[in-house]
Amino acid sequence: MDSDIARLRFVRILSHLVFIAAAAAFAWVFYHPDTDHPLALLLHCGIAVNLWSALQAAFSFTTTCGHKVKPWLRGANLTSMAAIMFFCILAMAAKEHPCRHILFVHIALSLYIIWDILAIKYYKSVSVFLYERYVLLFWADLSLVVVFFAGYIPFLYAAGFKKGATIMTPDTAHMFANIFVFTVLIAELLVYLYAEFLFRLSKSDILLSPEQGYRLWAPNYKSGNAIIHVERRHTLSVLDSLSLDGSILDFGCGDGYYAQSIARPANRIMAIDQCSQMLENARAICSGFNIDFSLGSVDRLRGIPDGSFDGVFAALVIDHLRDGELELFVSECGRILRSGGWIYLSDVNAYYEQSIHPYARFVDAKGYVRKIVVYPHSISSVLGALSRSGFPSIDLTEVPVTEEDLCAWPDLRDEISVGFSLISSYLGVKP
Ligand SMILES: C[S@@+](CC[C@H](N)C(=O)[O-])C[C@H]1O[C@@H](n2cnc3c(N)ncnc32)[C@H](O)[C@@H]1O
Repeated sequence: MDSDIARLRFVRILSHLVFIAAAAAFAWVFYHPDTDHPLALLLHCGIAVNLWSALQAAFSFTTTCGHKVKPWLRGANLTSMAAIMFFCILAMAAKEHPCRHILFVHIALSLYIIWDILAIKYYKSVSVFLYERYVLLFWADLSLVVVFFAGYIPFLYAAGFKKGATIMTPDTAHMFANIFVFTVLIAELLVYLYAEFLFRLSKSDILLSPEQGYRLWAPNYKSGNAIIHVERRHTLSVLDSLSLDGSILDFGCGDGYYAQSIARPANRIMAIDQCSQMLENARAICSGFNIDFSLGSVDRLRGIPDGSFDGVFAALVIDHLRDGELELFVSECGRILRSGGWIYLSDVNAYYEQSIHPYARFVDAKGYVRKIVVYPHSISSVLGALSRSGFPSIDLTEVPVTEEDLCAWPDLRDEISVGFSLISSYLGVKP
């Protein structure tokens, strides 16, 4: 696993050290024990810590979740960064005027807080996971700014707003400090501009699309993961109770595990998947069965005549469909099923996918940990979609995790405990 994670951790630790060293150098360069009031040290430390926290937050945000940022939010962020830089320039230009200088520095810092509030407001509506991170970041930044202001005001009094008092003198050390401030701000700006590139570097944190993800997962999909393990334990037992005669659609068939399990001499199976590599695997393990494999997504269902299937099966697929696609998928299932035909869906717990494990995780053939984007669907939203598509009565099962599951997949123990409903399954019959 986790050579990639170790590499990322190393880069993070290194970046923390570089940022801390740079911030400390900044404080040291600005503080002149011979001429400065002792409170000035607090001031410079405040600026340094703030710079460090801003850089650190920008770096870790970009390498973990920047890809989820909507373009307008990124634009707002870049604008606030540009404004911050602008006020820093003004602060430096006003080095002969302590009051103005301080005012500009304060405006720059306040802009950080505004940016945090913007991000919190945005993430509250889209992701509990990112929202919680941002609330933490906001309180950290706010405390820093308060500490900074608290240190600055006494400093101002101590400086007595003396006419001609200077905060910066144009010696080499201050030149260096100026260059440093510009460099870090420009670096931060670049980090945001090149977020995508940084994601590619820190591979383990990239969220892949289902197309990219399953292509990479296909060579060793067999190695599975905890969710597949729990899901199969449950779904195999449900299959025993289903009538598997006639024609059955296996949507998102993956490597053909279920297509093979439900294939009978007396039935005909159509297996659809959006990933050609997965379908190749499926064809290999299902040779000899009457299975028609087809490459495609929800749109592929449009060409299928009404009432042509006796059963529709989709295991662990709907969390890769956005809300609108899920709605379309379920309504197409309602259309292509004959009256009396069954539909079976299995899905991952929405709370788990939203807050605990917001992606599908696997280890690729090279040993890199990879993550695929998921779109969690609450039980009520799936039941709603099914009901709107002509399945008024659904047999819902929530599958609790057992001690054996946790023994088989020890990583799961860090996230949930015995009894947590990891998988939901929906079984319905078209009236
Ligand atoms: C977790 S795997 C499950 C495979 C199989 N149903 C099983 O349970 O072993 C999800 C599968 O859904 C497929 N998939 C994801 N999004 C899809 C879409 N929009 N249309 C068709 N297949 C999709 C992926 O390619 C992948 O093979």
